[in-house]
Amino acid sequence: MSKVTINTLQALKKTGEKFTVITAYDACFSRVIEQAGIEVILVGDSLGMVLQGHDSTLPVTVDDIAYHTQAVSRGNKHSLIIADMPFGSYTQPSQALDNAAGLMSLGAHMVKMEGGEWLLETITAMHERGIPVCAHLGLTPQSVNTLGGYKVQGREPDSARAILADAHAAETAGASLLVLECVPTNLGTLIAEELKIPVIGIGAGPGTDAQVLVLHDMLGLSPRAPRFVRNFMSGNDSILAAISAYHQAVKDGSFPAEEHCFTQ
Ligand code: KIV
Repeated sequence: MSKVTINTLQALKKTGEKFTVITAYDACFSRVIEQAGIEVILVGDSLGMVLQGHDSTLPVTVDDIAYHTQAVSRGNKHSLIIADMPFGSYTQPSQALDNAAGLMSLGAHMVKMEGGEWLLETITAMHERGIPVCAHLGLTPQSVNTLGGYKVQGREPDSARAILADAHAAETAGASLLVLECVPTNLGTLIAEELKIPVIGIGAGPGTDAQVLVLHDMLGLSPRAPRFVRNFMSGNDSILAAISAYHQAVKDGSFPAEEHCFTQ
């Protein structure tokens, strides 16, 4: 198995082959994910909810992400590892650069940040200094208090246009990947078609270049999984089999199905 890089993901987008992303927070699961051949691991700030029991991602710290990034990195030499920048850790470009450089030195290959236009300067500064960025648009959970809840975004024409414009701007600023969360299928497909960089969807329909799920959700461990999640433990007798089934379902296009998607 050769190491996955951003070039691997770009090549997959060109050929139309879908790739798979999953969250992980420790070396044990990271090893199983490597065995399943999953291309990308996200050390998501979702750890604040699934591991720490908070009701949002806001309390997660840079030290938390640093600790879990090191553990994930020790367990996996194949997947590309993205570390989430937690809430409040990238409000200014210089602060963002320092925090991101710290995470890269601990084993991350890329960092992810949530935000639109206000983030462009930071994306460019990171890209120019050798820190690849995955932008995150649509439902951005760190903004749950301004959004008024975990709601589908881009249903109205104005908000769909704004997300599309932000996606183009992030690419132009130097983002290497884009996560698109909880948007109608037609918007997810349009953005993936218009952007040159790979677009990773979660609740964004089957038209994106890749899918991401939170590990504990797809293993059926979360008390209330969102609509866009499928429980891959169901019908499988091991965690490796469940994660492999997720990978296979993304590759063959059977996940996400219609019941996991949102309409306008
Ligand atoms: O923190 C996370 O796990 C994420 C995914 C839901 C995309 O940001």
